[in-house]
Amino acid sequence: MRIVVTGAAGFIGSHLAHRLVRDGHDVLGVDSFVPYYSRELKRRNIDYVGDAGAWQFEERLAGSITPTQLQAVDAIVHLAAQPGVRSSWDDFALYSDLNLNETNKLAAAATAAGVPRVVFASSSSVYGNSSRYPTHETAELAPRSPYGVTKQAGEALWNAHAAHPGLSVAALRFFTVYGPGQRPDMALQRLISAALNGDDFALYGDGEQRRDFTFVADAVEACVLACSAQLPAGVVSVNVGGRGDVSLNDLIGLVEGATGRAIRMTRMPAQRGDVLRTGADTNRAAELLGWSAQRELPEGISRQVEFVRAPNAATWASS
Ligand code: UGA
Repeated sequence: MRIVVTGAAGFIGSHLAHRLVRDGHDVLGVDSFVPYYSRELKRRNIDYVGDAGAWQFEERLAGSITPTQLQAVDAIVHLAAQPGVRSSWDDFALYSDLNLNETNKLAAAATAAGVPRVVFASSSSVYGNSSRYPTHETAELAPRSPYGVTKQAGEALWNAHAAHPGLSVAALRFFTVYGPGQRPDMALQRLISAALNGDDFALYGDGEQRRDFTFVADAVEACVLACSAQLPAGVVSVNVGGRGDVSLNDLIGLVEGATGRAIRMTRMPAQRGDVLRTGADTNRAAELLGWSAQRELPEGISRQVEFVRAPNAATWASS
């Protein structure tokens, strides 16, 4: 298949591009290197992808992809975004520009070129504090952060564009994806760095917030399946979660066990926009994609620790 991956230098995007190239697909990756974290880390991701074989990479915004570039493309996996739940209070113009304006432009190009399938990176943060756990896709959407609002609106944008005949969109709602190469602002990556470097970990709130952590190879598998699954026309939202939710306090214990080091903690107030709990009902992913999460959390954490200890192509490879 010919597949375009946006956000291909990012955490999930680079693992996905690597998998697709390795499987023999014709891949165009794009990334604009938004300066949310170091360019060097993203360059390193791109180098790892290159180890899987030949692919094409362009530094550009997702919305600058032209209909001509999308001719004969079988699927676009649109992962490019301004990430970060807590920092989304600071610069909403940036979040709305990268997560909505760019998505809107890409959608226009995709429909003009007749691309049949889009896989869109949505987020568990569209639910906010849900009234039901595990949370099904039919639950009320009530995001608690501007970031979550842009993801909900992103789904709605694709819905508007998918009125165009022939386009079907899988909006994958990712639940806190982790693994080798995880973004440096995320809790698990910070915990592992704190354990290995002896730095303090800033614990927001009482640590009883719960997350359904999803290993990156599982997230990648869901993207791959969503590129070619039989799906209804229009947009279908699909939860992509892990194998059950755990508290941040339990996560801290798991990282201490995996590294053999105690983590020093600085207690900070709970952060605006953080939800108390996420937990995915993944029955729809099983029905529509034939997908289920495979990786247990302790094993996935060990893989991430291994990569932080010795970052190289072998420890990075997710599957
Ligand atoms: C993550 C990603 O950052 C989002 O891009 C994604 O959309 C979202 O998951 C999702 O599943 O929807 P988050 O759950 O906030 O968001 O993930 P972490 O950054 O790993 O935070 C998990 C918990 O740890 C939060 O309660 C957070 O407040 C806490 N935390 C995080 C700390 O206590 N200290 C830190 O330094 C970082």
